[in-house]
Amino acid sequence: VTEIARLKNIDKIVMGKHEIETWYFSPYPEEFTQLPRIWICEFCLEYMGSQRQFERHRTKCTLRHPPGNEIYRDEKARISFYEIDGRKQRRYCRNLCLLSKLFLDHKTLYYDVEPFLFYIMTSCDETGHHVLGYFSKEKQSNEDYNVACILTLPQYQRMGYGKLLIQFSYELSKIEKKTGSPEKPLSDLGLLSYRSYWADTILEKLYQYRGEITIQELSDETSITCDDIMHTLQALDLIKYYKGQFVMCLSKGNIQHHEKNVAKNKTRIDPDKLDWVPPK
Ligand code: COA
Ligand code: NA
Repeated sequence: VTEIARLKNIDKIVMGKHEIETWYFSPYPEEFTQLPRIWICEFCLEYMGSQRQFERHRTKCTLRHPPGNEIYRDEKARISFYEIDGRKQRRYCRNLCLLSKLFLDHKTLYYDVEPFLFYIMTSCDETGHHVLGYFSKEKQSNEDYNVACILTLPQYQRMGYGKLLIQFSYELSKIEKKTGSPEKPLSDLGLLSYRSYWADTILEKLYQYRGEITIQELSDETSITCDDIMHTLQALDLIKYYKGQFVMCLSKGNIQHHEKNVAKNKTRIDPDKLDWVPPK
């Protein structure tokens, strides 16, 4: 089925204390597309056409976190992950897809949420668990995809959350003892974030490693596919031809890049805090 590119139909959304300009078309009901802005409840993701309706909703809505199991909590960073089954929480997941379509131009998942699990990353304060971003994952992927859609809400972008979501998706794959890769095509921003994550992860492994390591071993340890590792090694110009064979070799630049990254001391996913077994 070819999908005709459609014009942006919702201009602005109000979520919590943020008013956000949207990027792309999303199939919200017709009557909402005439309005200057719509209100979205941060907790249940229901949408409303006026401030008054929104305030009425807030007095009734009791949700203070996504409607699923909390499978990860970092008390210090105040970050949690919730796992939500598209089959059990259809309405929430459809609302999430509608919301995320506003920032994705080529994904067509709107109503068919049942084959997916959704991993929602939240930040906790005294008012509740606020959605920062999420990724979806097919319950059964023939292509070995470990992420279908991935999004950081625009008000939280460029703060490192995208790479936290990506790291989380690979931690799940490690527990499954599988490799995985994001579903294609990726957006420009998606590709940028993945390339950066792959580079960081591979440089870190090589930096720590003494002796020989093969691409297959790198893949086993990171759950990144051999293909994605090969492309990253090439992009980093790490593969050299030496004494009749190909070897990986860190340059001064690679090492500086890695040491700078370590010095930034960014929040990372701690696998010990992950309480999860692969769903059957
Ligand atoms: N311009 C330049 N670089 C950018 C950028 C931008 N607008 N946004 C992110 N980056 C870079 C960051 O510098 C970072 O690289 P670094 O660590 O090497 O410096 C890397 O991309 C990841 O940044 P991060 O802050 O962790 O990501 P994010 O929270 O902004 O989320 C996406 C990244 C892709 C999830 C987010 O842009 C998004 O939701 N986009 C819309 C949805 C989408 O396209 N999803 C992917 C396809 S399914
Ligand atoms: Na996109």
